[in-house]
Amino acid sequence: MEELKKLSLEERLKWVVENHTDIVFSSSFGQEDQAIAHAIFANDLPIEVFTLDTGRHFPETYEVMDKTKARYKKEFTTYFPDTAMVEELVKAKGFHSFYNSVEDRKECCFIRKIVPLRRALKGAKVWITGLRAEQSENRHDMPIWEWDEANQVYKFNPIIDWTFETLEEYLKENKVPQNSLHKKGFVSIGCGPCTRAIMEGEEPRAGRWYWEESKKECGLHAS
Ligand code: ADX
Ligand code: SF4
Repeated sequence: MEELKKLSLEERLKWVVENHTDIVFSSSFGQEDQAIAHAIFANDLPIEVFTLDTGRHFPETYEVMDKTKARYKKEFTTYFPDTAMVEELVKAKGFHSFYNSVEDRKECCFIRKIVPLRRALKGAKVWITGLRAEQSENRHDMPIWEWDEANQVYKFNPIIDWTFETLEEYLKENKVPQNSLHKKGFVSIGCGPCTRAIMEGEEPRAGRWYWEESKKECGLHAS
C-alpha cells in the first residue's frame, strides 16, 4: 500500500472508491478533515461522511459544520451519544468528571465518542480518517492502510504522510472553510473543556487534555 503515497489526495480517494465499497469518513471538522472533506465533496465521491457530536464542542466547531454544508451543499450524518449513558454519567460524576483522573476522562470519551463511533462504523468496510504521522509520537508509525481489529474495518489514513505545510497549502489553494479557532492558536481541536490553544514551541497536541501527562488519545485510534 506504500505505492498509494505516490498519489495525490484525490487519486488516493479515487483508488479507494474504485476498489472498495461501504466507505465512511469520520470528520471532526479540524484542518485535516476539512482537506479530506473537500476532496470527497468537490469530486462527488461515494463516501459517507459522519461526525461524532459529543455535546461538548466549541460553538466555532458548529459554525464550520454549517459553513461546510453551505459551501458544498452535501450532507453528513451526526451521531450523538446515548442519552441514558450521558445522563447516568452526569448524575454520578457531574459535568466535569474528565478533570478528576485519566480514567474518568476516558470514561467520558468512551460514552461520548467511542460508543457512537461503533454505531457509525456499523456496516462499513473502510473507515477513512484524517490522522497525520507528524501529529504525535503515537501516530508516527501509523500506516496509510491497515486492518483495524477493534472495529473490524480497513482503516485508510489518506493524509498520514502529509506535513502541516502541505495541508495548509491545500486548504488555502482550495479555499476550504476552516474552524476559526485555528487562527487563535488552536491546532488540534476536540471538546471545549478539554482543548486549549498551544504556545510557540509546543507539540501540536499539547492543547488536548492539557492537564494530563497521558498519551493524549481518546481511544478512537487505539494502536
Ligand atoms: S482524537 O482521537 O484525538 O480525538 P483527532 O482530533 O486527532 O483525534 O482526530 C483524528 C481523527 O479522528 C480525525 O481526522 C477524524 O477522522 C477522527 N475524529 C476525531 N474526532 C472526531 C469527531 N468528533 N467526529 C468524527 N471523527 C472524529
Ligand atoms: Fe468528554 Fe473531554 Fe473526551 Fe470530550 S474530550 S468526550 S468532553 S473527556
